[in-house]
Order: sequence, then C-alpha cells, then structure tokens
Amino acid sequence: MDLGLNGKVALVTGAATGLGYTYAEALAKEGAHVALTDIDGDGAVKAAQELSQHSKVIGFGLDVASQQDITDGVARTVSELGGMDILVNNAGLARGKWNPLSMPFEDWDTLLHVNVASLARLAHEVRPHMAARGGGVIVNQSSNSAYFKLSSAYAVTKLAVSGLTIGLAEDFEPDGIRVNGIAPGMMTGRVPQEVIDMVVSAQTLKRRGQHEDLVGALLYLCSDMSSFVTGQTILVDGGAALRI
Ligand SMILES: NC(=O)c1ccc[n+]([C@@H]2O[C@H](COP(=O)([O-])OP(=O)(O)OC[C@H]3O[C@@H](n4cnc5c(N)ncnc54)[C@H](O)[C@@H]3O)[C@@H](O)[C@H]2O)c1
Repeated sequence: MDLGLNGKVALVTGAATGLGYTYAEALAKEGAHVALTDIDGDGAVKAAQELSQHSKVIGFGLDVASQQDITDGVARTVSELGGMDILVNNAGLARGKWNPLSMPFEDWDTLLHVNVASLARLAHEVRPHMAARGGGVIVNQSSNSAYFKLSSAYAVTKLAVSGLTIGLAEDFEPDGIRVNGIAPGMMTGRVPQEVIDMVVSAQTLKRRGQHEDLVGALLYLCSDMSSFVTGQTILVDGGAALRI
C-alpha cells in the first residue's frame, strides 16, 4: 500500500537507537528521506549508514536541549535533503519513580527542558520550512504513563507533551501542519523484570510491547490516511492505561 511518503523529508530526534531508530527505519522503508539525529552523533551516523539502502538518509549529532543544535540541525536537513515535511519529536529522558516528588527538584529543569520545551523549539524551527511546502506533520512522543494514577515526574512531562500537541495543532493549522502524538506503553528495553511483570499484568493484551508495534501509528499519523486528525495522542500500550 502506497502511503505517499516516498520522497518526503523527515527529521527524527533520538534516532541512533531505541524507538527513534525504529521510527526512522519505518519512514526510510516507505521511501522518505530521513535525518537521523541524536545527542550521540557517532551513533546517528552509524544508524544512518544502516538505513541507506532504503532512501537518502543522513545522520548527525543534535542535542535537543541545545537551541543552537536545533537551529543547525533543521537547516542542515533542509539543505541536504531538500526541505522539511515530517518532524518526529522522539528524544526524551526517563527519570524518577512513581510519584512526582521522588525526583530531586534540581532534576526538574532538565526533564522539563528535554521532554517538553525542546519539542516546542523543534516545532518552531521546522514550521516555516513546512509552511513553505504547503504543510507538514509533527509527531510528538508522549508515554502511556502520562495517564496513570501512579504519576512520576517523567509522566508529568509526558502529559505536558500531550497538552503541547493540542496547543501546537491549533496554532499550526493555518500553515497546513498537523500535530499529533503517540503514547507508547512499556516497550522492549532495559527495565527490571518486576516492573515488566506489573505492567504486562495490568495490560488488556497480555504481552510485552515490541518497538514494531508503534510503526502502524507512526505511519498513519505521518501519511494522508490521518488527514482529518490533529491534536490527538494515540495510546499504543496494549490497554495498560485503561487499568493502572
Ligand atoms: N521505551 C519505552 O518503553 C518507552 C515508552 C514510552 C515512551 N517512550 C519515549 O520514547 C522516546 C524514546 O525512548 P527510548 O526508550 O527509545 O529511549 P532511549 O533511552 O533508548 O534513548 C533513545 C535515544 O535518545 C538519545 N538522546 C538522549 N538524550 C538526548 C538529547 N538530549 N538529544 C538528542 N538525543 C538524545 C539517546 O542517545 C538514544 O540514542 C522517549 O521520549 C521516551 O520517553 C519510551
């Protein structure tokens, strides 16, 4: 099925590994030209090389906490890949335990800056380039933990991401830019077994989520299949947020 992503230009943050890499790979396989960016510049370059058989893919260092990196990274993507159609605001930090005050207050600024403000900065930076092409798509990475009663400081920032998504959707509509989010459940990664067991038992679907489980939501939100959808955050978590 042709999703119409062939030749589109995408920038993905935090794409050297993890979910960001999965998103970048999915877009490249659809023929999109992708800038894989990461605070780990060498990792981004290596990841881009792995995907180069699919489409035109570049990799370089971009720390989302740095306004200069954001400005330079967006300009480089536009210059080397020819424009900007899709931004995947994936990079984020996980900190803190199951209540907001379990994290030292001195860590709050970093968490809010990386997980929330950087997404707004990137959106602001890509906006004129998308507007120049008649529109675009932004996908913000939230988390299903945003909707838990057991709320960590991390979860608070991810709920803020969903709020930012609503606000940006309204603000960017005049430029033809749709803004949506994905709230994944706990996917494969380095998490203690007791946490995995607790989350999986709370899910309606009793298995651990795989990175690939998120690809359908990403491609849907990036393509015209979702042309009447904006300001939404899609939960992809096996039903966990209905229970916890
Ligand atoms: N893995 C999960 O189960 C899960 C669940 C819900 C939400 N998320 C969210 O998905 C996103 C990716 O999660 P992950 O588990 O793949 O992450 P991860 O910890 O594996 O990191 C992914 C990449 O982000 C990069 N990164 C870290 N700080 C950065 C910065 N300041 N600027 C640019 N890149 C940076 C890292 O170098 C790494 O390559 C995050 O926003 C996370 O909160 C993950």
